[in-house]
Amino acid sequence: MATSTAPAPAARKGPPTILLKTVVAASGLFFVLFVLVHMYGNLQILISPEAFDEYAHHLRTFGEPMLPERSFLWVARILLLVSVAAHVWASMSLWRRAGQARRTRYAGKKKTSYGRFYAKAMRWGGLALLAFVVFHILHFTTQTITVAGEYPSPAERVISSFGVWWAVLIYTVAMIFLGMHLLHGIWGAAMTLGLNTSLQRAEQIRFVSIALSTIIVVGFLIPPFAIFSGIIE
Ligand code: HEM
Repeated sequence: MATSTAPAPAARKGPPTILLKTVVAASGLFFVLFVLVHMYGNLQILISPEAFDEYAHHLRTFGEPMLPERSFLWVARILLLVSVAAHVWASMSLWRRAGQARRTRYAGKKKTSYGRFYAKAMRWGGLALLAFVVFHILHFTTQTITVAGEYPSPAERVISSFGVWWAVLIYTVAMIFLGMHLLHGIWGAAMTLGLNTSLQRAEQIRFVSIALSTIIVVGFLIPPFAIFSGIIE
């Protein structure tokens, strides 16, 4: 029984909770796709700095001469920006809604401390990731933040940056946050999209979320550590 004056779900303003959750899940799955492609691109540096620069160059010239230079890059940037805005807006709305639900004390089921930990980790971890992405764009894209001097080629910027211990530390911490966010996020997205139709399917989803998060974290961390340890120079 409710003991406070917080609005009942039917009287709540704003979009239905399931719509907000679907927006979070769909934009989240788009990010998974993006980070997989980005990770693949970064791994080109293991082949050679030239291979990495060529990949970065292709991103800018993809579709030429039919399309103007950088059109593919700008389409991807706009899609990412819209997805980030939708992901943040929908998850903030759900966060606020969960706060209202907590103030309405129901005699029924309480959230477990495990569930509370994950909810908190997703919210604060998500905000930390957002801060990382801003730092990351200022570092590698706009080059407003220079770690180890200014270099004309993307490969030189990456190699010089990851010779610096604190840059490796920042990226390592960020990738751990990313891994935790993905681990629970992929699982949550699959639940929202109704993919857990059986016990066996739930096991498969758990496996996929662990495998994908591990591959992404390890894949992103290989270049910084290979550079810092002198394997790539
Ligand atoms: C160790 C991890 C990472 C490294 C070494 C790395 C490296 C880079 C580099 C070198 C660029 C510039 C590429 C160019 O100039 O062509 C870039 C751009 C970018 N990265 Fe990363 N990245 C990492 C992780 C991430 C993660 C986890 C995300 C997202 C969650 C991310 C999102 C982006 C975005 C949005 C851009 C800007 C693309 C643009 O607008 O040009 N990166 N990254």
